[in-house]
Amino acid sequence: MDYSKLGFQTRQIHAGLDHTPATGARGVAIYPTAAYRFKSCEYAANLFNLTEPGNIYTRLQNPTSSAYEERIAALYGGVGALAVASGMSAILIAVTALAAEGDNIVASPYLYGGTYNQFRHSLRRLGIEVRIAAGEAPEEFDKLVDGRTKAIFLESMGNPTCAVLDIEGIGNVAKKHQVPFIVDNTFGAGGYLCNPFEWGANIVVDSATKWINGHGTAMGGIIVDGGNFDWGCGRFPNVDGPSDGYHGLNLWETFGPAAFIAKCRVDGLRDFGCCPSPFDSYLMMLGLETLSLRVRHEVESTRRLAEFLRSSQKVKRVSWVGFDDSPYFGNARKYFRFGSSAVLTAELQGDVETTARFVEALQLAAHMTMIGDSITVVTHPASTTHKQLSEADMEAAGVTPTLLRISLGLEDVEDIIADFEQAFAAAGL
Ligand SMILES: Cc1ncc(COP(=O)(O)O)c(C=O)c1O
Repeated sequence: MDYSKLGFQTRQIHAGLDHTPATGARGVAIYPTAAYRFKSCEYAANLFNLTEPGNIYTRLQNPTSSAYEERIAALYGGVGALAVASGMSAILIAVTALAAEGDNIVASPYLYGGTYNQFRHSLRRLGIEVRIAAGEAPEEFDKLVDGRTKAIFLESMGNPTCAVLDIEGIGNVAKKHQVPFIVDNTFGAGGYLCNPFEWGANIVVDSATKWINGHGTAMGGIIVDGGNFDWGCGRFPNVDGPSDGYHGLNLWETFGPAAFIAKCRVDGLRDFGCCPSPFDSYLMMLGLETLSLRVRHEVESTRRLAEFLRSSQKVKRVSWVGFDDSPYFGNARKYFRFGSSAVLTAELQGDVETTARFVEALQLAAHMTMIGDSITVVTHPASTTHKQLSEADMEAAGVTPTLLRISLGLEDVEDIIADFEQAFAAAGL
């Protein structure tokens, strides 16, 4: 079925459902199998040579995961998607599909702490240099691109600062240099709040652990191929050139616009092995059915909590992109549905100790490192997600000692506000 003409809400329920029609079941079947029986030796050889599509082994493909991938590709309007075990593995597979020893990628200064570590430490060990832009403007990215740049990487909304940069402008820099533009769209909630393909992205990665799953029940990552990059431009012989692992097969000639996502599967998943469990793919599909409804509720609760915190004496500063004095108000209105996010940050009065007492006193809101859950989550980045960073790197990432990142859940927001009030009192604020 062609889903492209259907609304987001219809796609989030229907896309992928007819993937396994054998029984007529309303739900998608979970296939808990590691391997698949081959019809014949010739058929098996064709599968291994990538000349015929089909299932070989769940590390590469699984019918439950395929249905989920189909739904994700339909939601984003991509030519294909790949489900992997976590958001971090999605980033690793996407970047290493493009860059090798001696290459570099150019990245935003506003990155999730785990991504920053992967880039600064693990990719460096592989000989891939990550050049962090010195500022927010597209020109800062432009300055760093050279002949060995293999991607520009941006978070559609930076974690935890909620910075929304000029996605389209940075996409234009990538286009000018014929470099793929990768956007981590975790805060864009599976494409519902933001779809980076509308703004020049070529590849989207998304931590499905967050809004896609929506209930904090499984880890997952997604890579989506926009099918809009010219791999034949001469800069990517690993896509448009003989594949070592497949007897010289050229992925660009074989898979056309879906060459990149094919490469992520047949090289990335095959060799790094971070495949999702079919059960987790099922949970992701189930979560997706209510994605837009959950996000709408969370966005409205975020607005209510942001207004409450802004009027409170206990809070030094509230950053929420929906406030018209936010430096990201204009970009959020342009790139995010409702001009908003379901996450805000607040800097409390007091110091790191009173902030710790506050988070420990919360009774409903959970003190965890999580976003996009049905439970409201309060995170203290300085002692958790960003703890490994040096003081200077923390400051550059906008993380101060009393900063809290708050991701609103599905509760009645009045109860969350009351929980904050009692925790302020308990912390002596
Ligand atoms: C923006 C962003 N990207 C990537 C990740 C990593 O995802 P995962 O925890 O699923 O590996 C996270 C995790 O919070 C994130 O916030």
